[in-house]
Amino acid sequence: MRAVHVTGYGDVDQLKVVDMPKPEPKEHEVLVKVKACAINNTEIWMREGAYGTGSQSGWRPEGVHFPRIPGSDISGEVVQVGEQVDDGMSGKNVVLFPFTSSGEEGTEHISADMSFIGSEYDGGYAEYVVWPADLCFDMPLSSYSDSAVFSVSGLTAWHMVKQIDAQPGETVMVTGANGGVGSLNVQIASKVFGANVIAIIGDLEDEEKMKELGATHVLSYRSDKLAEDILNVNDGPIDAVLDVVGDALFSTSLHVLKKGGKFCISGSAGGQQTNLDFRTVYLKHITLYGSVLGTRAEYKDMLKAISAGKIEPVIDHTFPLEKASDAQVYFKNRGKLGKIVLLP
Ligand SMILES: NC(=O)c1ccc[n+]([C@@H]2O[C@H](COP(=O)([O-])OP(=O)(O)OC[C@H]3O[C@@H](n4cnc5c(N)ncnc54)[C@H](OP(=O)(O)O)[C@@H]3O)[C@@H](O)[C@H]2O)c1
Repeated sequence: MRAVHVTGYGDVDQLKVVDMPKPEPKEHEVLVKVKACAINNTEIWMREGAYGTGSQSGWRPEGVHFPRIPGSDISGEVVQVGEQVDDGMSGKNVVLFPFTSSGEEGTEHISADMSFIGSEYDGGYAEYVVWPADLCFDMPLSSYSDSAVFSVSGLTAWHMVKQIDAQPGETVMVTGANGGVGSLNVQIASKVFGANVIAIIGDLEDEEKMKELGATHVLSYRSDKLAEDILNVNDGPIDAVLDVVGDALFSTSLHVLKKGGKFCISGSAGGQQTNLDFRTVYLKHITLYGSVLGTRAEYKDMLKAISAGKIEPVIDHTFPLEKASDAQVYFKNRGKLGKIVLLP
């Protein structure tokens, strides 16, 4: 099969297109013919060694074993089943829940042995991938590309909205709202949980699209009075923030949150370290949530919402598998709208 290997920690020149044997499913696994694989920052960090230092960087403390096939947002068709898997799975179109874990139902995302497809296991930058049958779910939409864009970003967004327990009528600010996670945070917070969403983006050319996705107000982080803009459109402080940007908007977020407000963060695309005056947190009774991915039950709930048309795929660009390097470089561009998808 054709696949892309990451050959070691480093720049995009560590991505190599190779021909290699198809993997064989073990007894509880299936072989999936990959039809689409969306890109996430996680495989870029995996390649860059950004999850730790030197050989210790990965979702697991022991680091990544190279060569590794990246890619965790996968849709495809089951073409072979392991000995212990029901034959009825053959021919199914599926999406893959992106990690294994021995954690009990509801805590699997915080289990110490959580291991990620495309990092601890070979992933979807390939024509075929093997994965446990019980972590493959019916594709929520008829198109492979459309179905591929949710597993990581959507699960992350769903879990974030659940963490803040967004309520109908509350005001939730979403940062990075044009990005992969943010565009789903906007939709899930507004269209599934009924919150009023203030979407924060750079270029206001995308304002109409953000409103279609469910934003009530769209503001630019380029404004030199962003905090004032937020307080003005909401007529006062807001209930919660769903953040993927980190440092660049942290002080603004704390400033505009109401007393008792909630701040949930899952990414730091705009700076990983910040300067925090603890007094802001305790004098305003702010609750901080860290968030990584989510649970299998949340994944199933998300798939139902996608099938019901409450959440839609937002795709900026597709690339052929062989152009994986270009796709990862493109992913890093500012101002894209939604997800980037590789098509093997
Ligand atoms: N914890 C988890 O489970 C999890 C899962 C998925 C992703 N993540 C993390 O979440 C973050 C976003 O991922 P993604 O897939 O959504 O990436 P993405 O599609 O590249 O989106 C990044 C967003 O951040 C915005 N941004 C970047 N720098 C900014 C700045 N200085 N000020 C304001 N906004 C800024 C971008 O706006 P512009 O386009 O205008 O630059 C864009 O909207 C990444 O850090 C990723 O590692 C975490």
